[in-house]
Amino acid sequence: MNIQERIATIFPKADEIPAEFRLPGPVEQDGYIIGGELRSWAGPMQEVLSPVCVSTPQGLVRQTIGRFPLLTEKEALEALAAAVAAYDEGRGRWPTMPVAERIGHVQEFAARMKERRGEVVRLLMWEIGKPLRDSEKEFDRTVEYIGDTIDALKELDRVSSRFVIEQGIIGQIRRGPLGVALCMGPYNYPLNETFTTLIPALIMGNTVVLKPPRHGVLLFSPLLEAFRDSFPAGVLNLIYGEGRRVAPPLMASGQVDVLAFIGTSRAANSLQKGHPKPHRLRSVLGLEAKNPAIVLADADLDLAVAECLAGSLSFNGQRCTALKIVFVHERVAGEFLRRFGAAIDVLECGMPWEQGVTITPLPEAGKPAYLGELVEDARRGGARVVNEAGGMANGTFFHPALVYPVQEGMRLYREEQFGPVIPVLPFDDVETPVRYIVESDYGQQVSVFGRDPDRLARLIDPLVNQVCRVNINSQCQRGPDIFPFTGRKDSAVGTLSVSDALRSFSIRTLVAAKESELNREIIGRIVRERKSAFLSTDFIL
Ligand code: G3H
Repeated sequence: MNIQERIATIFPKADEIPAEFRLPGPVEQDGYIIGGELRSWAGPMQEVLSPVCVSTPQGLVRQTIGRFPLLTEKEALEALAAAVAAYDEGRGRWPTMPVAERIGHVQEFAARMKERRGEVVRLLMWEIGKPLRDSEKEFDRTVEYIGDTIDALKELDRVSSRFVIEQGIIGQIRRGPLGVALCMGPYNYPLNETFTTLIPALIMGNTVVLKPPRHGVLLFSPLLEAFRDSFPAGVLNLIYGEGRRVAPPLMASGQVDVLAFIGTSRAANSLQKGHPKPHRLRSVLGLEAKNPAIVLADADLDLAVAECLAGSLSFNGQRCTALKIVFVHERVAGEFLRRFGAAIDVLECGMPWEQGVTITPLPEAGKPAYLGELVEDARRGGARVVNEAGGMANGTFFHPALVYPVQEGMRLYREEQFGPVIPVLPFDDVETPVRYIVESDYGQQVSVFGRDPDRLARLIDPLVNQVCRVNINSQCQRGPDIFPFTGRKDSAVGTLSVSDALRSFSIRTLVAAKESELNREIIGRIVRERKSAFLSTDFIL
């Protein structure tokens, strides 16, 4: 079968879907959590269409896989009120609980979460079209992240469990919570990226209002009881609905202390602006990026192609860290394109559960048409699609398009495509890609491919001050999760990583006393008789 035929018949008939990957039935997710109560919603619901279509005699039909509540401002504000009450100006049970106990609650949640792996993974495939192995990886990476976060917090707490005596003052310095956090993750990593803010926010003693992303909501349904049971009432509140409708009133209330949001800078700006007390609000943001690859003339082309392929097309290019523009030295551009095109030709395209599949259907409505417009715009400007059937669409499926030569003025030059389109530009002087990065609104990462240590070093030094990670002969990526993940300009605010996230969701706070007989006696008694969770030398083992 040639590529065109494969794309035309990419979607299965209903009876061709393997039994083990079918959903038992539509997920009727009517439960949301407010104040420790799993409430059932009787109002309007949002139907969830899978990116997976089924081929029928009448044509392709997107599968309806469930429904979730379209909550309103009223329920959103109730969830916020529950989080505010549980925090209770820092006097609540959760923010004053000893760290070891908070860890216990998170461990209980993680244990229950692990039991639901199969269901969550299956919903990841059906809701956002993520391939099976990547869905499993997302789940396992998240569980591992929780474990690593617990270890990092223990370490932080051990360091803080001793007193410091300096200039006649005794101090105990710890990190305390900030208050109420609003956590909103993105659709491409609806579980992992949501949890990389949710878990540090919770474990540091904040209370949370969590809103799952637009796509990737049903996969929270297997976790609802565990959310409800693992934390004291009001600590974790979970709402659904249109972000535009439920999030602004929360911000306008002035009661959100931390905005943890992964999405567009436009949405983040408008949420931040809605908060009446900008200095009370801390923002932890993961935003857009247009990470470039720079392929130098002496690069190992096989390696560069393999990394650029994975970097631009893993999960169909729907990663904030994806390589979204490729600069190739003109001396090797022809060969690079030939090998890149050939590598795309043999990529497995198909349904998320298919063995070895890389390119799968896209969850966002209108995305294939949007990507098609970008390719058309480049064509009009004189570029061509290099690979066979590049840009061919069928329903929610879009075949990757390698587009060359892209130049300034084309939409693909600056727009973040967030999908399987790879713009390639030739360069003669390496100053060309460097200028591109300097002039970009984004500053997350870059990948540089080459062999000459002198030339690479001359690029590394200026580039580390333009972006926050320079990858040598390697694609851009967030992991390993202990590495700091951040960006400059419109790409991020704050740093995430196992340990940085603990800092992002907390503030240094301390108890200090001038060294005197009286103060020594008071502190000694508080510690000996374990009267305070904060002023304590307890050491978590
Ligand atoms: O969408 C952005 C993610 O943080 C990327 O994570 O680089 O591990 O795929 P990743």
